[in-house]
Amino acid sequence: MNVLRFSDLVAQGQVAGRRVFIRADLNVPQDDSGRITEDTRIRASIPCIRMALDAGAAVMVTSHLGRPTEGEFKAEDSLAPVAQRLGELLGREVPLASNWVDGVQVAPGQVVLLENCRLNKGEKKNNEELAKKMAALCDIFVHDAFGTAHRAEASTYGIAQFAPVACAGPLLAAEIDAISQALANPKRPLLAIVAGSKVSTKLTILKALSSKVDGLIVGGGIANTFMLAAGLPIGLSLAEPDLLDEAKAVIEAMKARGAEVPIPVDVVTAKRFAADAPASVKLATEVEADDLILDIGPQTAARLAAQLKAAGTIVWNGPVGVFEFDAFAKGTEAIARAIAESDAFSIAGGGDTLAAIAKYGIESDVGYISTGGGAFLEVLEGKTLPAFEILSRRAAG
Ligand code: 3PG
Repeated sequence: MNVLRFSDLVAQGQVAGRRVFIRADLNVPQDDSGRITEDTRIRASIPCIRMALDAGAAVMVTSHLGRPTEGEFKAEDSLAPVAQRLGELLGREVPLASNWVDGVQVAPGQVVLLENCRLNKGEKKNNEELAKKMAALCDIFVHDAFGTAHRAEASTYGIAQFAPVACAGPLLAAEIDAISQALANPKRPLLAIVAGSKVSTKLTILKALSSKVDGLIVGGGIANTFMLAAGLPIGLSLAEPDLLDEAKAVIEAMKARGAEVPIPVDVVTAKRFAADAPASVKLATEVEADDLILDIGPQTAARLAAQLKAAGTIVWNGPVGVFEFDAFAKGTEAIARAIAESDAFSIAGGGDTLAAIAKYGIESDVGYISTGGGAFLEVLEGKTLPAFEILSRRAAG
């Protein structure tokens, strides 16, 4: 990746006393009372902030939280809970500044969190005036928000155009290195798990991966569409019949390369989508007209687990069943445990995937856990994300 790295600026002694603006992705899930339910992204943002503080910079950090209406402050959109958690992790108080676009008071050795950047009018559309104001706040802009690297917004893209210096933070750099290396020169067999409710949202990824991977494991609603394409009954299960030809094309493309899309041989079904709905295990050929497929069955799980254990590299995006409901979680648990036990280099990303990893406590057994959702998927698609495009342009002068 041909971009300037913040760690290099630090090593060259160019950061002491400078005003450093870090765009992090602190967009974390919260419960109804605003309590943070999963803080991976906050923890992953700490090394960059520490690096800047240790180097003697005056540090400003911002992030978006959710998708608020620009210009309309609501308490639930505030980064206040994030400031609190950041403070705990950094072992110092982290003040939160509102209305910061026209000026921020911060001294070298101090850190201030700037309120939800998506509250600023013009953020989403990358308004030039807003971006220039943000750029004027700093000497060095550090993009460390991998989770938002696929967005071209004022605090991720415009500011990188106009700041005196624009560079990649350690998280942004580590993410792109890990994902691209896993795909560029993988130890084989390379298996990808792409699961989720809709083929349509992941079609480009499925196509891109079908030319690279040795096995493409599909799950969730995506698997239902592939089962339909393979001539299996799926009852009332979520699927996209208009994408059958696309699913068939992926299966054929894989076959032509001697690779495979394993189609479930058994499934777990219910008559209703509910945590307490009675679950039935049945062969994939025996799904009834009023059944909903909510998980892969034990035979399928065992087959996939064996493949995962023998893999060289695994890319994981998405749970294979409704793992939030215990009766339909066994497939995802079997996949998670097989990945944990496998000697393969594994890389996982996406909000639901992170939740599954946390549920089964396998964090330390996954090779690399990406903080990206949409960004992770776009890298898998082979796209150049706006963050890397603008940072390489700045590095080229
Ligand atoms: C994410 O949660 O994937 C990132 O924080 C990006 O959020 P967005 O999809 O609202 O831009």
